[in-house]
Amino acid sequence: MLQRAIVAAMPLLPRPLVWRFSQRYIAGTSLDDAYRVARQLNEAGCSATIDVLGEDSTSAAQVDEAVELYLAAIDGTSTRALDCGISVKLSELGLRFDASCARDALRRLLRAASDNGLFVRIDMEDSSVTDVTLDIYREARADYDNVGIVIQSCLRRSTADVSALMRDGFTDVRLCKGIYIEPAAIAYTTADDIRQSFRDLLVQLLESDNSRVGIATHDPMLVEHARQSLRALAIPRTAYEFQMLLGVAGTLRRQLVDAGHPLRVYVPFGERWFAYSMRRLRENPNIAGHILRNLFRSAFTGTN
Ligand code: FDA
Repeated sequence: MLQRAIVAAMPLLPRPLVWRFSQRYIAGTSLDDAYRVARQLNEAGCSATIDVLGEDSTSAAQVDEAVELYLAAIDGTSTRALDCGISVKLSELGLRFDASCARDALRRLLRAASDNGLFVRIDMEDSSVTDVTLDIYREARADYDNVGIVIQSCLRRSTADVSALMRDGFTDVRLCKGIYIEPAAIAYTTADDIRQSFRDLLVQLLESDNSRVGIATHDPMLVEHARQSLRALAIPRTAYEFQMLLGVAGTLRRQLVDAGHPLRVYVPFGERWFAYSMRRLRENPNIAGHILRNLFRSAFTGTN
């Protein structure tokens, strides 16, 4: 209860205070921060994916700004020879006010990424845009092979979506639980059901010859199930990778890397870190307790 109250009050907190806790989840505000963190991850045996923080752009100017940053990221990643791709949200590219703007912006990014040998992941947003996101992915995939999509195990439709994608041809899929709160009519709402759906979808993807899978979870039960499935189905390392968020589940991440599994870390950066931090908090209110403890400790000891 207290943690939920803290989360509800977070938007009222001063930004410097929120920044203290956010540092764990965000590379920083500049591209150089993102490169630095991606380099550190590469040195620790992980791939990286740079995400320019931002969603729900409302003007062409905002979209241009995001595209320019992504183009710079593609160029800089390639110049520095980082093992790193990019992740984009179509709403950041203008989907919610003009789908053709998002289509065009995505194509600019795909062209530049393709020229530099980089992979582009289209993040999946809430269910109001699942269909159009899949449509835009399919159109892009017809011309580019350096693009992948995301499937959310909380959605009841996902089994059918995976079947259709596998029928279309080779698809690089990131499988995650899904971060958005969706109505029960279209989504599983209990933790157990979302987990079971994740297990079923993972097996569906691994058993297909037409997929490469990003297993995006920090849930120890799902990671264990994935490890067993990978072993049982003798899936080669080229056909999957684990994926985690920056700052989350560091111990589990190291265990997977030490065991020889490919692992990619999602590296968000940018000026719009505040909204992202709020989302992380809503997703995992337990963090609020840690923040409180840290704040009190730093208030009394003067440390962060
Ligand atoms: P769960 O939420 O049960 O977490 C398991 C454990 O991990 C927790 O007990 C906690 O210890 C730790 N943990 C998890 N999240 C944490 C956090 N934020 N902070 C601190 N600890 C945390 N969703 C979506 O809808 N569209 C998308 O495109 C993506 N993309 C994406 C990429 C990558 C690389 C990842 C890892 C995740 C996403 N997600 C996403 C988010 C995803 O849908 C889901 O909300 C989170 O990964 C949390 O679910 P878990 O499977 O980790 O389980």
